[in-house]
Amino acid sequence: MKISVIGTGYVGLVTGTCLAETGNEVLCIDINEEKVKQMQEGIVPIYEPHLDVLFERNIKAQRLKFSTSLEEGIEHGDIIFLALPTPEDEDGSADLSYVLGAAKDIGKLIKEYKVIVDKSTVPVGTADKVTEVISKETNVDFDVVSNPEFLREGFAVDDFLKPERIVIGSSSERATALMQKLYKPFVRSGNPIIVMDEKSAELTKYAANSFLATKITFMNEIANFCEKVGADVDMVRRGMGTDSRIGKRFLFPGIGYGGSCFPKDVKALHKSGKDSDYTFDILNSVISVNNTQKTILIPKIESYYNNDINGKIFAVWGLAFKPETDDIREAPSIYVMEKLLAGGAKLNVFDPEAMPNIKRKFGDTLNYANNMYDATKDVDALIICTEWSIFRTPDFNKLKKNMNSPVIFDGRNLYDIHEMKGEGFYYNSIGRVTVK
Ligand code: UDX
Repeated sequence: MKISVIGTGYVGLVTGTCLAETGNEVLCIDINEEKVKQMQEGIVPIYEPHLDVLFERNIKAQRLKFSTSLEEGIEHGDIIFLALPTPEDEDGSADLSYVLGAAKDIGKLIKEYKVIVDKSTVPVGTADKVTEVISKETNVDFDVVSNPEFLREGFAVDDFLKPERIVIGSSSERATALMQKLYKPFVRSGNPIIVMDEKSAELTKYAANSFLATKITFMNEIANFCEKVGADVDMVRRGMGTDSRIGKRFLFPGIGYGGSCFPKDVKALHKSGKDSDYTFDILNSVISVNNTQKTILIPKIESYYNNDINGKIFAVWGLAFKPETDDIREAPSIYVMEKLLAGGAKLNVFDPEAMPNIKRKFGDTLNYANNMYDATKDVDALIICTEWSIFRTPDFNKLKKNMNSPVIFDGRNLYDIHEMKGEGFYYNSIGRVTVK
């Protein structure tokens, strides 16, 4: 099939590349000329595991092409994916100007039947709005489908190629049949393609992400309470997670959820509720608890130093919002580092992938270490913000030699507290007793 993807952010790029992998002819459109030029030369503009291999293979096979011409994109695809940004507006709602702008252009340029697919995460009712905008510009037949993505950064290629489910919101049999044909190769294992109306598909995405954010937030509160009463959240998590109604995943407490999706989607669903005269009390709490959780390490660190961190030097490991990505959007590390810098501390930082992005944001207010051990030289404490695998089994003796004093504040519970007892560190983590 001929597919166009408008917008080559992380979702558009993964969608385009993976659809080319099953033999479709994919044309990806982006307004950024420099980026398009790079992609034409085979350079993947984001870090996402396995994407580079698929990218190269499909460009070579001439199934994956790039252009800045929207006109070309609209002409090319039988199915046109809109994978455009829906940034958070000042009031928390999703800004639809990119999506509706593209819809208007499609209306002006469309010459024959097309299926327009909303891939971006958009509020309930957007498919109707897109339909309305296109209809105003043209009499040509078209259908609008909502097809939300459930891609995790760091696992996006795998999630796309082997989805647990595909959600298609469509009220047109013709469009549904085309979408089912397109996705058939990805669900050979028997996982379902769930067809529903457009509004339910749009809400499914927000409901799924908000539920997961709530699950994490609930666990963060249990962890905070564990610290008050001397319980061990690791044990509570295992005890709870083995109940299949609860499930083992997304129960890991830490310094809050971040990223480009959860914070934005929770706020957008909350705002959508307000707009429809409905109050999501639970999401109100999720937003507020997560805001506090992102800086939960700060009072712990301050209290250790009798409320004076001025002049202290800290190593910070893990800057990306989670492992296996260079994405720092809403990363808890940012909030932690801003507070520490404001208190007069000096920071030596290290992340396997996110250093360039953090450098762009923090400039020379931080010291950028070449590796995880260099970051710990002559520091007063080590602070862990992201659970990259490389941090899981450090050489503790080397750390002790490097550091001024053996103190670790771990925001991701990387180490077993029982094993830490023999290592000679002051070790403070989330929802567990402090090892001294
Ligand atoms: C998420 C959804 O999982 C995906 O389906 C959606 O389409 C996009 O948003 P992503 O933002 O890439 O994906 O990251 P995810 O792995 O879901 O983690 C989100 C945040 O939750 C991260 O900050 C992570 O550190 C945090 N998290 C996750 C926890 O704090 N504890 C957990 O147990 C799991």
